[in-house]
Amino acid sequence: MQTIFSGIQPSGTITLGNYIGALKQFVELQHEYNCYFCIVDQHAITVPQDPIQLRKNIRSLAALYIAVGIDPEQATLFIQSEVPAHAQAGWMLQCVTYIGELERMTQFKDKSSGKEAVSAGLLTYPPLMAADILLYSADLVPVGEDQKQHLELTRDIAERFNKKYNDIFTIPEVRIPKTGARIMSLQDPLKKMSKSDPNQKAFISILDEPKQIEKKIKSAVTDSEGVVKFDKENKPGVSNLLSIYSILSNKSIADLEQEYEGKGYGEFKGDLAQVVVQALEPIQKKYYELMESAELDEILDRGAEKAHAVAGRMAKKMENAMGLGRKKRR
Ligand code: AQP
Repeated sequence: MQTIFSGIQPSGTITLGNYIGALKQFVELQHEYNCYFCIVDQHAITVPQDPIQLRKNIRSLAALYIAVGIDPEQATLFIQSEVPAHAQAGWMLQCVTYIGELERMTQFKDKSSGKEAVSAGLLTYPPLMAADILLYSADLVPVGEDQKQHLELTRDIAERFNKKYNDIFTIPEVRIPKTGARIMSLQDPLKKMSKSDPNQKAFISILDEPKQIEKKIKSAVTDSEGVVKFDKENKPGVSNLLSIYSILSNKSIADLEQEYEGKGYGEFKGDLAQVVVQALEPIQKKYYELMESAELDEILDRGAEKAHAVAGRMAKKMENAMGLGRKKRR
């Protein structure tokens, strides 16, 4: 069985973009692969976080993984900072990564632009992400399109390490969904939907209430044409809404265009809001049940233990390959 690794940052409540681009794929793949799903809290602190809120977000994200359909008996669900091999391997991989490579990353450029104080961790995020993946010898990494560049760098780092030291890493492939790989902001459809967007109206959180969802979709930026048609270039707002509608309703974009021919954006948005509310309802119900139970901590304890056994072995192999520490005495 091949192995999958993927992670999500607990930097806020996950959005419809995270769900469609990442989590929905995880659920579909979990029965065919040996899966490791991680709450990457060490990635989250590359930008400022409130410690109390971060702890809440970590637990909440764990519950959401399960609420969307991840089966913890099947997949290993764990928190990155509870498996020390991630930080160890991240450091080793930083030492085989070039600053020029890191400065070219668009996520670094986007997140650092206009900021006075930018943490070194924001720059060195990709080698930590490479460590996450390579520690588990992942064959496949399912992510949204925004992570493609980081995945390409992970492959370069792994190949470089294999060539320079010892051939220990599996070179992972990226898996990006055909539709919904990049769900856009509701307020600026040229920007991706992000959970840490300061404008609450820009994203739909997976825990938003029906009234909030309706309001956010009603105020989503479209255009003045009044025609429900998919045209990413000229109608990015409507196209984004059509993508969301199509994925959550399993109707093709062409069928939706036909269904709304001659109808205005008001009716289209109203129906879309209902589709989103219905898709999120069972997830929210399961989420609130889990948050009340002790089951969540048991799942995370078991996950950390399982992940530690695999990742610890690989970190040791990396140290041996690089000549760190001492040779084991017999
Ligand atoms: N808008 C999106 N459309 C499709 N997929 C998306 N992903 C993120 N945004 C979209 C995918 O979700 C997974 C988890 O992402 P992450 O939390 O590790 O970091 P991110 O990509 O930086 O996501 P956000 O929501 O934008 O978080 P913040 O605001 O904290 O930076 C990844 O697979 C990602 O591709």
